Amino acid sequence: MNNKVYIFDTTLRDGEQVPGCQLTTPEKVILAKELELLGVDIIEAGFPISSPGDFESVVQISKAVTNPTICALTRAVDKDIDAAVASLAYAKNKRIHTGIGASDFHIKYKFNSTREEIIQRGVAAVKYAKKSVEDIEFYCEDAGRADNVFLAQMVEAVIAAGATVVNIPDTNGYCLPEEYGAKIKFLFDNVKNIHQAIISVHCHNDLGLATANSLAGVVNGARQVECTINGIGERAGNTSLEEVVMSIKTHGELDLVTSINTKRIYPLSRKVSSMMRMPVQPNKAIVGKNAFAHSSGIHQDGMIKNKQNYEIMEPEDVGAGKSSIILTARSGRAALNYRLELLGYHISKEELEEKYTKFLEIADAKKDNVNDKDLHALMDHGVVDRGIFLEDMEVTCGFKKTPSAKVTLRVNGISHTAESIGNGPVDAALKSVEKIVNSKVELEEFLVQTITEGSNDFGKVHMTVKSGEQINHGFSANTDIVVASVEAYLDALNKLM
Ligand code: KIV
Ligand code: ZN
Repeated sequence: MNNKVYIFDTTLRDGEQVPGCQLTTPEKVILAKELELLGVDIIEAGFPISSPGDFESVVQISKAVTNPTICALTRAVDKDIDAAVASLAYAKNKRIHTGIGASDFHIKYKFNSTREEIIQRGVAAVKYAKKSVEDIEFYCEDAGRADNVFLAQMVEAVIAAGATVVNIPDTNGYCLPEEYGAKIKFLFDNVKNIHQAIISVHCHNDLGLATANSLAGVVNGARQVECTINGIGERAGNTSLEEVVMSIKTHGELDLVTSINTKRIYPLSRKVSSMMRMPVQPNKAIVGKNAFAHSSGIHQDGMIKNKQNYEIMEPEDVGAGKSSIILTARSGRAALNYRLELLGYHISKEELEEKYTKFLEIADAKKDNVNDKDLHALMDHGVVDRGIFLEDMEVTCGFKKTPSAKVTLRVNGISHTAESIGNGPVDAALKSVEKIVNSKVELEEFLVQTITEGSNDFGKVHMTVKSGEQINHGFSANTDIVVASVEAYLDALNKLM
């Protein structure tokens, strides 16, 4: 059997169905070009009948992309297929993805139909689409819960009608890996013409098993995996592209290959995350912020001795930079020494012992990572920059949104981060500051003025704060009024200190 596994990316169709993640056509074109550079074989570009915007996206992606096949989704309905054909007019390589429900749930409650009629409708859709496009993929929706004998009949019928690829979706993320693998095997054992088509897996992640199920399908003969970047998709999402690709790459004994340029995975993951406004969970396999970050003492010691003790793949292979040794109160002397050496500090065993005690105090006080600046402060025998300084700030606010802020301050040389919500962006930012400095001060006066009149000009902020009997004034000016407010507040707090 061929050992190439085709990667069918549906980030722009199934992935984009997530509420709040909708993209404009130009954004989809940017991502489609990136997917082409990543090396995916097929891009599912949209569901053209669903809206004029989706239709236009398929048209523009077809024009912009050369190598991957461009695929358009339809129901088993002639007018859907007509729209898909029209939208693919400019595609160099085109595919129509049509289909119908295969489980008894869908047949009865969604289509109010019978098994026989459903097969007829599926076959008719394939034949109709085949008049315009050679490459036809057929999806047997909810195949995960379908009766295997009926599913085999359906697959055989649509292949006989001209389907080049047959998709066996676990639409509801219901199957267990063994069950899904056995389903694919059952099809290979029972569908006479199965070798005339590629069998595709399309798994949802409702039980967190999408990647495991997809791999079980591939091990049992499927040669196309439908997936999305970061595993985004409806509900718990789709199979994650990066997990499948890196599993195949890491397990050479599977004797399978994909055409993905894995070094482009991490940068594209970040691009998709920011364009779709969908953060990547820190512990997400392959692309999470912590995927190559080692923070416990035992692991750090092992990593420093030999990376292979705790890393099964190189972060560089997925374009994620270098693995990192994160310093926390859980880190040991070896990790501290390692990070100090990277910064150019070479110290004796005795000195390390002394610094390690101080380091633990800092780590406990911060309840966060000890960063390079903290280490420089540690090596300078204490605090270098006494006072409170704004190091970083992110604010989210908008119409019908709860304002929130994440603020990082340097307090006596050590950086601390806190997040808070508030009744406005300034309130959220000041509450974050209060969380860090634990201040018992009252805001007596808060005055904002623009220096000149345009919306792009500097705003001046004056603040008066009171702590017990002591009153102090803070001032700042910035084009960003929230930053100015925080700086003015810190100005006043520093004077109180
Ligand atoms: O999950 C599913 O069944 C689908 C089909 C439309 C392919 O997304
Ligand atoms: Zn799906």
